[in-house]
Amino acid sequence: MPLDQAAISPMDRGFLFGDGVYEVMARVDGRVRAKSLHEQRLAASLASIQLDVSVEQIFNDVDRLIEKANLESAKIYVQVTRGAAAVRDHAFPVDVAPTVFLTISDFQVMSYGAGKAIVRPDIRWRRNSIKSVSLLGNVLLMQEAKASGAQEAILFREEYVTEASTSNVFVIRGNTLVTPPLSDLILPGITRHLVLEMAEVLGIAVIEQNVRVDSLADADGVFVSSSTRGLMPINELSPGGTVGHGQLTEPFLALQSAYDERLRHHD
Ligand code: PDD
Repeated sequence: MPLDQAAISPMDRGFLFGDGVYEVMARVDGRVRAKSLHEQRLAASLASIQLDVSVEQIFNDVDRLIEKANLESAKIYVQVTRGAAAVRDHAFPVDVAPTVFLTISDFQVMSYGAGKAIVRPDIRWRRNSIKSVSLLGNVLLMQEAKASGAQEAILFREEYVTEASTSNVFVIRGNTLVTPPLSDLILPGITRHLVLEMAEVLGIAVIEQNVRVDSLADADGVFVSSSTRGLMPINELSPGGTVGHGQLTEPFLALQSAYDERLRHHD
């Protein structure tokens, strides 16, 4: 239905408590990128908030939405909340149907030029592997980036990089790719997963280990990854200054072209 005809109760727990999870997927040239990985991650997010909903049913609805919208390249948003109860009570309501909200909009994934990132303490909660709609920390950090003329906020906890406000973080040293290991503190990004797979194929060494925030500016390259940004190089940090020699190095260029290729020709 047209967006202006959709209605969600003001008692919806997604609205009142941020009690819900979501996915953002890119459809490129008639194909949803890594759809089964998004399905798996949504199932994991739902399980971790004890919300029992059929992911298969949701993805059938996604297919119907895609068919109706008839957009070859699009951004697909999936949000599932614990639904609307009659009264506002923090604990889970009983016998309340979840709310499922899907949108599709015209969108082109593109390769971004180098951008700037602010570097800030990670002020978010400690369960960031859940793709929760409670994004106030991310919202405040991204706004701060924007107000500083930057495109991202790279975050750290206790001197170590976690991720960025809307993406995962990678560092290049020589022919080696370093990225923080999966944990409760970061989202297991689908693009991150694809980057690690591609690095292996390209013969780029991969180390999943903690990255000291004060080592970022000395790296040969820093980039962030997400479904909507693809692989976006960061050439300036604030604080930190220019990354490496301010130029993109071969491992990044190889990964970016492998990613573009994969997006267009594979699942
Ligand atoms: N964000 N980390 C955070 C905090 C994110 O919000 C995202 C994606 C990622 C990258 O995940 P993926 O590669 O699966 O897109 C990492 C989406 C795009 C968003 O909220 O719009």
